[in-house]
Amino acid sequence: MNKLPLIFVGIFLTFTSAWIGLVAYPTLNLGEMQPLPDEETGGVLPPTTSGLAVAGQKVYASSGCVYCHSQQVRWSPLSTDIAKGLGPRQTVARDYLREKVAFLGTMRTGPDLSNIGARQPDTNWHHQHLFEPRTVTDWSIMPSYRYLYKTQKIEGQPSSDAVQGLRGPHAPKLGYEVVPSEEAKALVAYLLSLKKNYKLPESPEPSEP
Ligand code: HEC
Repeated sequence: MNKLPLIFVGIFLTFTSAWIGLVAYPTLNLGEMQPLPDEETGGVLPPTTSGLAVAGQKVYASSGCVYCHSQQVRWSPLSTDIAKGLGPRQTVARDYLREKVAFLGTMRTGPDLSNIGARQPDTNWHHQHLFEPRTVTDWSIMPSYRYLYKTQKIEGQPSSDAVQGLRGPHAPKLGYEVVPSEEAKALVAYLLSLKKNYKLPESPEPSEP
């Protein structure tokens, strides 16, 4: 018996159903999605990534942060993300509307960073942590991003942007200081811009238990 037509129909159905599920249905549902007006500020939601943070997004991508950090807060009854304080609410499609590449991530070797700008708003903390994660978290297994910083001799007055409070074997010696490169400054600006503390109607904050 010639099974060729049957095999052909099978292959056709497999690819068509995948295309419907992965391309057509999401495009119909989400393709026309627009930012919402923000009545409080007159801007839009989600807010645009702007200034240095745009450059920082590229540093985030090229440094491989996404291998260990997700940027998605999962639905409350099925996960403890909100209880753990990773974000005030579940993240939804509209949150990623302005990102060319959404760094959803698949691994959480480190904590989710969707809302890190609100959780840790201190610029110096981020520089300390990126230069040497063990400075702020003793047990951290996060790699150091020291190559984004320069250790230099203090000439006259210390630089205003020198990283404060470094300790451990890589801390600058007396008379030296650690200053962030433009890339490090951009990366921290990006991290500080990661906030999910604005409200979207399709993702209400769960009420206190
Ligand atoms: C090999 C895995 C790994 C990679 C790669 C990595 N991290 Fe981490 N990160 C961790 C771990 C583990 C922690 C938790 C311990 C700590 O605070 O250092 C963490 C913590 C953090 C925190 C603090 C989160 C919080 O809630 O306190 C920030 C911010 C962060 N990482 C940013 C970055 C950035 C930016 C990059 C890329 C330049 C990066 N990480 C790359 C593993 C990683």
